[in-house]
Amino acid sequence: MSFAAVDVIRAKRDKGVLSDEQIDWVVAAYTRGEVADEQMSALAMAILLNGMTPGEIARWTAAMIASGERLDLSKVGRPTVDKHSTGGVGDKITLPLTPLVAACGAAVPQLSGRGLGHTGGTLDKLEAIRGFGTRLSNEEFTEQLRSIGAAICAAGDGLAPADRKLYALRDVTGTVEAIPLIASSIMSKKIAEGTSALILDVKFGSGAFMREVADARELARTMVELGKAHGVTTVALLTDMEVPLGRAVGHSVEVEESLEVLAGGGPQDVVTLTLALAREMLDAVGLDADPQDAIASGRAMDSWRALVRAQGGDPDAPLPVANEVETITAAADGFVSGLDAYAVGVAAWRLGAGRARKEDPVSTSAGIILHRKPGEPVHAGDVIMELRAEDAAKLPAALEVARGAVTLAEAPPAKRPLILDRIS
Ligand code: URA
Repeated sequence: MSFAAVDVIRAKRDKGVLSDEQIDWVVAAYTRGEVADEQMSALAMAILLNGMTPGEIARWTAAMIASGERLDLSKVGRPTVDKHSTGGVGDKITLPLTPLVAACGAAVPQLSGRGLGHTGGTLDKLEAIRGFGTRLSNEEFTEQLRSIGAAICAAGDGLAPADRKLYALRDVTGTVEAIPLIASSIMSKKIAEGTSALILDVKFGSGAFMREVADARELARTMVELGKAHGVTTVALLTDMEVPLGRAVGHSVEVEESLEVLAGGGPQDVVTLTLALAREMLDAVGLDADPQDAIASGRAMDSWRALVRAQGGDPDAPLPVANEVETITAAADGFVSGLDAYAVGVAAWRLGAGRARKEDPVSTSAGIILHRKPGEPVHAGDVIMELRAEDAAKLPAALEVARGAVTLAEAPPAKRPLILDRIS
């Protein structure tokens, strides 16, 4: 069935409900290049302003999946379970979590992305490891899941091509922040990837996509429903991203912190979230293993080393270190009362860890070490933050925004829960 694109746009502009046929047609015709970018951007804006019903979101997601291939992971020989985070600052959880869950008997098919804006991307972090390759063919991906139970790589071109095209368009037309479009974008890729279960880490707060808890909750509910409708066991945790996760923000520094977690140490918040997500993932596929045991016994670290080697990396190679360092110190005695995740993310970006356009290179060694986090005491002169760059010229602009990230007070702030809710 064929439609005029302008009629589909008008229907959504006038707050109508699109029919299944209209949705199937517009997504397929846009992917083929028969609906123009300006028409799809008008439709995306109408969706952002007027929303979609649950039925429309489900159909839109199905149409995006149908625009490409769907991987078959049934030959992997272990239950498959993935995790997706909506992104944040210092969010390196995929790095310790993937080998940890693999060490507990599951297969973790992680198709990951790169950072854009103030948030970091898993693939950029992994590329701090000498030799690590992030492009696998579908056959290599499936074989690695079968042999070692873990793979972290970029999504192939055949997976949800409608999303790749639409996401790039939304990025430049102010239409990224539409919950129906975010939910269908994330879930179409995860469902097409072929995982049997999915745990979502939906973040809220200054460093997250969704600043408000209510928006994050609606996004989480929408994605959980989409997963279930497609036969994927899906659970979401709502987690705090007002403050960066852990003490490291950047690529090589986050790999280093992930290794600390796999070795049984690491910052408390990173450990807590890694274990909570691991338990959810194992529960979702009915595996009765204790992730804490997998860390204590060294099996999780062995699994990490196997993953790095399988993708061409050298787990023993030293990580790159940036030589240009500046610090931010406390002006008075007291407590750190706030550490704004967005500002820390922007500072890391200015140090060279982020990119302005998708094709830009990143500095793998640039980053920030957080010596103090909210609730911790400081004395005048103590280092709160350490900024590292390859290029000294990048330090002043990063310092300016990083200074604004920190607030001090005479008393410690109220504790914020890291995991606010679970939605299933
Ligand atoms: N991540 C995605 O993959 N898609 C979105 O729309 C937003 C975040």
